[in-house]
Amino acid sequence: PQQASTVTVTGAGGQIAYSLLFRIAAGDMLGPDQPVRLRLLEIPQGMRAAEGVALELSDCAFPLLRAVDVTDDPRTGFDGSRFALLVGARPRGPGMERADLLSANASIFGPQGAAIAASAAPDVRAVVVGNPANTNAWIASSAAHGVPADRFSALTRLDHNRALAQLAARLPRPVDEFAGVTVWGNHSATQFPDIDHATVGGRPVRDALEETLGGVEAAQRWLDEDFIPRVAGRGAEIITVRGSSSAASAADAIIAHVRDDVSGTTWTSAAVASHGEYGVPEGLVCSFPVRSDGTGYRVIEGLALAPRARSRIDASVAELVAERDAVTELGV
Ligand code: NAI
Repeated sequence: PQQASTVTVTGAGGQIAYSLLFRIAAGDMLGPDQPVRLRLLEIPQGMRAAEGVALELSDCAFPLLRAVDVTDDPRTGFDGSRFALLVGARPRGPGMERADLLSANASIFGPQGAAIAASAAPDVRAVVVGNPANTNAWIASSAAHGVPADRFSALTRLDHNRALAQLAARLPRPVDEFAGVTVWGNHSATQFPDIDHATVGGRPVRDALEETLGGVEAAQRWLDEDFIPRVAGRGAEIITVRGSSSAASAADAIIAHVRDDVSGTTWTSAAVASHGEYGVPEGLVCSFPVRSDGTGYRVIEGLALAPRARSRIDASVAELVAERDAVTELGV
């Protein structure tokens, strides 16, 4: 029998974790042959909720689930971890300025990065979900001395899937006929969902949109006025309609992000540390088109960018630079 893989989930008492943990334990993330050991990391106020989730995990009698440990100590939480899913974060409270939010999160993700470096498995892969996800990933990675920056990523797969779903509904075509959709930049309102290299049934999505919508201008108008704002604003729409933020869809995106990272994919979106691709400053954790051969996401290079796309990417990257500079100035 295979040795169990240790998966750490932070924010384990929260709403995303409540959808995520059961799917990991069922084998949806690492496959039906891979036993898992779950480590649930919380803060003291969240411990009771996490302990309750552990009781329910036990009650499912999942054949692949070998152990569940609940802790509020990061060193213990990341001990031997092969997959570190950093979901817990400090939400923006009433009257909280952007600098307060960045600093509160820096004091979470810095120590967690250090704990990952100190106690996780040598081949650990860390995925940051808690917002501001890209900058939190940059903070954790910067504090994880000795862990290569490409072991850290931030989740933009939910944005990617939202883009796919909007296209599939508008054309209308099945989701699995699409390829080459990309979300660039920050996981924020400045993100750029891009269809310029996308195909549906092997044909350019732009051609299919022009046919369905009745011309070049109508297609571009739909992209600029409906598609991009709808995808970028979907998180807010979910809060308005559901009364709380995306949870099951976020958990599903985390599952897909890790599954494609370890089992391989020819094209998806993920935020990874830039090596300078597409002029994005080195080290910034930016969403790109990525592929994986099973050893981690790599940026798909060499795509031609139209001026309209270039300026949208530049605006989102400028926001990432400003977040990084604000954290650096805080000196946390
Ligand atoms: P939640 O508020 O239901 O749960 C968060 C949990 O994290 C709480 O139980 C809290 O006690 C815990 N926590 C806080 N600080 C912690 C720390 N230092 N260590 C361990 N646990 C800690 O929030 P929810 O809905 O589960 O969302 C979690 C995060 O994911 C939020 O920051 C949210 O904005 C973000 N998010 C990101 C998405 C993405 O696509 N990247 C999509 C949806 C949400």
